[in-house]
Amino acid sequence: MNILFLGAPGSGKGTQSKNIEKKFNIPQISTGDLLRAETASESKMGQELKNIMSSGKFVSDDIVLKLVSKKITSSDCKNGFILDGFPRNLSQASSLDGLLSDQNLSIEYVFLIDVPADLIIKRCVGRITCNTCGKIENEYFSDYREGDKCGEGVFVKRADDNEETVSNRLKVYAEQTEPIIQFYEDKGVLHRIIGGEDGPQRLTDEIISIIKK
Ligand code: AP5
Ligand code: MG
Repeated sequence: MNILFLGAPGSGKGTQSKNIEKKFNIPQISTGDLLRAETASESKMGQELKNIMSSGKFVSDDIVLKLVSKKITSSDCKNGFILDGFPRNLSQASSLDGLLSDQNLSIEYVFLIDVPADLIIKRCVGRITCNTCGKIENEYFSDYREGDKCGEGVFVKRADDNEETVSNRLKVYAEQTEPIIQFYEDKGVLHRIIGGEDGPQRLTDEIISIIKK
């Protein structure tokens, strides 16, 4: 089973991917997480990625495609995968089609998480992520704060979670990513999940019930 999460920055793609990963035991492939891991290296490429991501722009299609292709063809993904944050433009969507058809694979479910824009800034600015297990929390909606312990790790903030960069990321999303909604609607695999003030579990339950149908 291959699943794809679409949605604006802060809509909850990572949160839902982790819940679905646990439920169905198929791995999440988050291009944002993979790229952040690359930025940890002191290399020239790591530094370049850091600059692009902290401005809210997209990294080049070539780099992202290489990362995704390596993951999808690995043995971890033999029972399926969950794409989170890829594809993000029409060119990436058509490259993904090519990559999947080479492997005789397809995407069965695309979940678009639709959250009103006024909630997005708070969700991103308040987000904290465990630097070890990747658990996602929010300073506004939970008891955890930046620097608190989470199992082996501590909660940290992302460099691109300030108001200015989030506004840029939203602009880039509207210009480049929104057009791929129609691309997947035309394939008949798109499910719109309306998020809002509801906590993550209600959305997870809806997604699971669509998959089980
Ligand atoms: P990426 O890391 O993918 O960032 P994003 O798309 O902006 O999405 P986010 O991770 O910010 O949000 P999310 O939807 O995962 O929300 P989350 O679950 O964390 O990409 C970062 C950068 O990498 C890009 O800007 C780009 O530069 C580069 N990049 C990545 N992929 C690329 C690609 N394919 N091509 C080119 N460049 C690429 O939730 C957010 C917060 O809300 C959390 O605090 C969470 O606790 C809370 N929350 C979640 N759901 C709910 C709910 N239902 N109710 C209340 N709170 C909730
Ligand atoms: Mg994410």
